[in-house]
Amino acid sequence: MQTIIVDGSTGRSQILIGETLSNLGSYLPAGRTIVISDARVAALYGDRFPSGERILIGEGEAIKTLETVSRIYQQLIQLEADRGTFIVGIGGGIVGDIAGFAASTFMRGLRFGFVATTLLAQVDASVGGKNGVNFHGYKNMVGVFNQPEFVIADLDLLKTLPAAELAGGLAEIVKHACIADAAYFDYIEAHGAAVERLDPEVMLHLVAESVRIKAGVVNRDERENGERRILNFGHTFGHAYEKTLRLSHGAAVALGMVTAAELSREEGLLAPVEVQRIAALLKRLKLPVHAEVDCQAVFDALRRDKKRLREQLHMVLLDRIGHCVVQPIAMLDLERWFGQFRFPSMA
Ligand SMILES: NC(=O)c1ccc[n+]([C@@H]2O[C@H](COP(=O)([O-])OP(=O)(O)OC[C@H]3O[C@@H](n4cnc5c(N)ncnc54)[C@H](O)[C@@H]3O)[C@@H](O)[C@H]2O)c1
Repeated sequence: MQTIIVDGSTGRSQILIGETLSNLGSYLPAGRTIVISDARVAALYGDRFPSGERILIGEGEAIKTLETVSRIYQQLIQLEADRGTFIVGIGGGIVGDIAGFAASTFMRGLRFGFVATTLLAQVDASVGGKNGVNFHGYKNMVGVFNQPEFVIADLDLLKTLPAAELAGGLAEIVKHACIADAAYFDYIEAHGAAVERLDPEVMLHLVAESVRIKAGVVNRDERENGERRILNFGHTFGHAYEKTLRLSHGAAVALGMVTAAELSREEGLLAPVEVQRIAALLKRLKLPVHAEVDCQAVFDALRRDKKRLREQLHMVLLDRIGHCVVQPIAMLDLERWFGQFRFPSMA
């Protein structure tokens, strides 16, 4: 097991990588605990949950709303939860975002922790203290920064994760390596087959390295005043692909990273061979690296996603694998470049 600490303004979060759901009880304070999970995770792993009350929510991005949070508040009132009640969210990023937000706001804040059951939640969503919900179609528009007291990343639970869900976590893992650690990138390249069979030692290394990178960024810039935005590498175009091509988040981020790598090359920052390496690694991990896109539709989605009309965007680009730079680019220049954009063909 590896423990990584996030020191947030609201408290310290221990990320326990390789710890198990069965040991959850040893991290819970004395007193009452209420579990928030979803029906699928409860059906698969409910026998390992701590005894006591459970609140189960639905699945999918569409339920990440204030209405779901409101139903949780009602159930907490019916269960007579009080300021001494501890909340534990057991599930993927959606359960975590909702449970963390409900816990942070009910009665002005209950203590809470997570068991992250998807790869994306283990390497990304459960780390960093962002909790929130979507509002009127805008993603993560309403929320709070508040650190969970602990996060258990039980790698054994990944065995039941559908391939498409696994891909979402792998895309974020490649993102972490691209922006922050060339040796980590080399390691993933060298262990493609082991990743595919979820080799426990390799998965422990991947989750721990990714959490170390994300925790480092969060420890330096918890509230996204600057450095934390490097975690958006691949996401500016990724979100637009997700909407226009109706792709999973992981697949869209993979395409977004290839696009950002190409833009880095265009800006004279990244060598063509490095762009090819990034695309080859994504492909090896069964993520898409090529799509036929309607550039205008994608760019319109990108503009809408930004919520406010801006004249320039801060794009996260790479100047080599393992190192990124944030570069302001005029919207008009970006639109002109993207109007001609084609995904590179693989050598
Ligand atoms: N708070 C943050 O900093 C942050 C960061 C990144 C993403 N997110 C959010 O995370 C959400 C996506 O999270 P996700 O990708 O974990 O998806 P998810 O929470 O929707 O889970 C995906 C599916 O997998 C199922 N599942 C969960 N664990 C399983 C297991 N071990 N075996 C089998 N099935 C399992 C779930 O029931 C669900 O159907 C998005 O809403 C995104 O906005 C938040």
